[in-house]
Amino acid sequence: MTAARTRGAPDWLALDGLEEGWLDRRVFHDPEVYELELERIFARCWLFLAHESQLPLPGDFLTTWMGEDNVLVVRGRDGRIRAYLNSCPHRGNRVCTAERGNARGFVCNYHGWSFGLDGALTGMHEAAAFERAPGFDRSRLGLAPVAGLDAYKGLVFATLDPQAPSLADYLGDFTYYLDVILDNDPGGTEFAGGSIRSRLKCNWKIAAENFAGDALHAAWTHASGARATLGRPMASLADPDSESYHVNVNGHAWEFNLDRRGNAATLQEPLVMQYLRDRQRQFEERLGPLRARMTASVSSVNVFPNFSFLPGQNTFRTWQPKGPDVTELHTWVLVNRAAPQPVKDAWRRGAMMTFSPAGLFEMDDGENWELATRAARGVATRRRRLYYGLGLGTRVDHPELPGNVYRCQVNDANQRALYRRWSRLVRARTWAEVEDDAPARGTA
Ligand code: FES
Ligand code: FE
Repeated sequence: MTAARTRGAPDWLALDGLEEGWLDRRVFHDPEVYELELERIFARCWLFLAHESQLPLPGDFLTTWMGEDNVLVVRGRDGRIRAYLNSCPHRGNRVCTAERGNARGFVCNYHGWSFGLDGALTGMHEAAAFERAPGFDRSRLGLAPVAGLDAYKGLVFATLDPQAPSLADYLGDFTYYLDVILDNDPGGTEFAGGSIRSRLKCNWKIAAENFAGDALHAAWTHASGARATLGRPMASLADPDSESYHVNVNGHAWEFNLDRRGNAATLQEPLVMQYLRDRQRQFEERLGPLRARMTASVSSVNVFPNFSFLPGQNTFRTWQPKGPDVTELHTWVLVNRAAPQPVKDAWRRGAMMTFSPAGLFEMDDGENWELATRAARGVATRRRRLYYGLGLGTRVDHPELPGNVYRCQVNDANQRALYRRWSRLVRARTWAEVEDDAPARGTA
């Protein structure tokens, strides 16, 4: 057991100064804090596992991560999706070593235990020897299921904590915003085929906070990429009177303006732009006029803790922690299921040109995040707090938008909300101790 677990959370994790715009950068470095994160965030929160479209048939499976726990996600013969710890109950070997596929069951390489799609132990090499062992009970030796699994409009989430709130409560009013992308078409959504995995030498939170709220970097870090794709510099996003926002609900965060297709324009795919223009009226009918202008606008999103996406570019991604200073990035491209195939292909192509390891924008971000993470290893450097004070005092009441709403998308409100939620979770011993910070719908 680590020292952090025996002592409880260190006092500095209260992050004094955060509400005044200062962040203790030990959050990016401390190995004990990383252990606390694995236990109190990744083994506690609802984490994104898969899109249902990745597992259309019985026997379809994929493997992914919940923190440092590898999990096997399987569609059973009964059509239900389940998830298990991908570790053999015999000696712990990884049972399924493939990233995805279709199988009738799973056989462990080490001593030949086999498991059904429902996780049950179905057979053993030298089975008679086990049957002779006093007390041997194969019904207790199946793969360990996750504590909870549920879906929201095609997105499958799971939690490892039996005391976690329901997924509906965990997402709360943030579903109002998620519907912008997940429910703008009656046919629903799917992941276009394929995914990419890459590694960054950065702390996972630096990536998550960038997608939660960092509109500031867009026109600076990505200036050359914007010129290459748009043919002009990006417009300033800092006008305090513009119709742009930071919104957050319990650490889930969306920064956006209402320019309709600003993000999609960077894909340089005319078919995508035409598809979005043709459906603007449908978006208005399903989502109302305000949310219809968010479907592909200049914006970015993080579902706490580590599931991010960009409306318009439609890159969906998880930031998988591999230590305090390494993150494995998994990415997919989301499309409307009923969209014509050429539009889906254009979306995937455009996303690869912009947000893939070789994409115009991803390369820009990665180096900055790695150097910011590296800096936190310096003893004197990490004593110096970082400035997160943009947009203090910009909170507004909004007649339609739920959650905590802040005016102007060049703002640090969402980043502060992410670290506020993070701080509450890593200091709490149980879910019951975790305080909400989202006002109920309509009471903002
Ligand atoms: Fe799996 Fe022994 S570790 S059968
Ligand atoms: Fe970026």
